[in-house]
Amino acid sequence: MKIGIIGSGGMAKALAGKWSSKHQVMLSGRDLEKASGVAAEIGASAGSAQEAAGFGEVVVLATRWEDVFSGIDSAGGPDAFQGKVVIDINNPVSIETFLTTREDDRSLTQAIADHLPGAHVGKAFNMAQVAVWEDEDMTYDDRQMVTLYTADESADSVIAELIRDVGADALRLGGNEHAYQLEAAAAIVIKFLFAGRDPQTIFNFIQPEVKAVR
Ligand SMILES: NC(=O)c1ccc[n+]([C@@H]2O[C@H](COP(=O)([O-])OP(=O)(O)OC[C@H]3O[C@@H](n4cnc5c(N)ncnc54)[C@H](OP(=O)(O)O)[C@@H]3O)[C@@H](O)[C@H]2O)c1
Repeated sequence: MKIGIIGSGGMAKALAGKWSSKHQVMLSGRDLEKASGVAAEIGASAGSAQEAAGFGEVVVLATRWEDVFSGIDSAGGPDAFQGKVVIDINNPVSIETFLTTREDDRSLTQAIADHLPGAHVGKAFNMAQVAVWEDEDMTYDDRQMVTLYTADESADSVIAELIRDVGADALRLGGNEHAYQLEAAAAIVIKFLFAGRDPQTIFNFIQPEVKAVR
């Protein structure tokens, strides 16, 4: 699969670092030299946001949540996302109040889907901290980590595959009408992270039974 990532920060690096052994991945950023340096460390390539969106059959929105729509603009606007699977990993959460920051009744994921009518959208990877996604072995107490996600039917199988490719199991919560639940749950995770809890212990869904894992 060809994966373009808008961003080259902590989450982009953690996910791309896992995907690059199996997929072709292009990172991006406003500072191309910085993005190229990150890409070189993990066996990915780097380009502008427009190049990353053009490259990917899958495009991951991995700026800070405040920059998601400016990132989409940098990539060329909604036309650049036509027919692509778009993964929203962002948590619109205030780190002062630990409440979600959405001002209308749509989740960020639904606002993205409304803005990109030609894309197949889902939300994933938002429920654990970057240190967890960097873990080589996503098994805890011999059980595989489970990642909740939401997706349009048309994005479901691709997003599930990319979750499995980072070493987690994929559990679909439903369509993107459920994304607000993932965003609100992430606010709880972030509150406890900021209070000093171990990232691996917060909402770490695991398989109910010990089983052979990769
Ligand atoms: N960190 C976590 O533990 C974690 C966990 C789950 C979900 N998330 C979510 O994941 C998202 C990314 O988090 P992060 O920690 O990876 O953030 P980060 O390290 O701050 O990275 C943000 C990236 O976005 C790039 N960027 C910003 N505006 C851009 C634009 N217009 N075009 C292209 N690239 C742009 C930045 O690069 P330049 O400055 O070079 O442009 C930077 O590489 C956030 O929304 C967060 O809520 C984070």
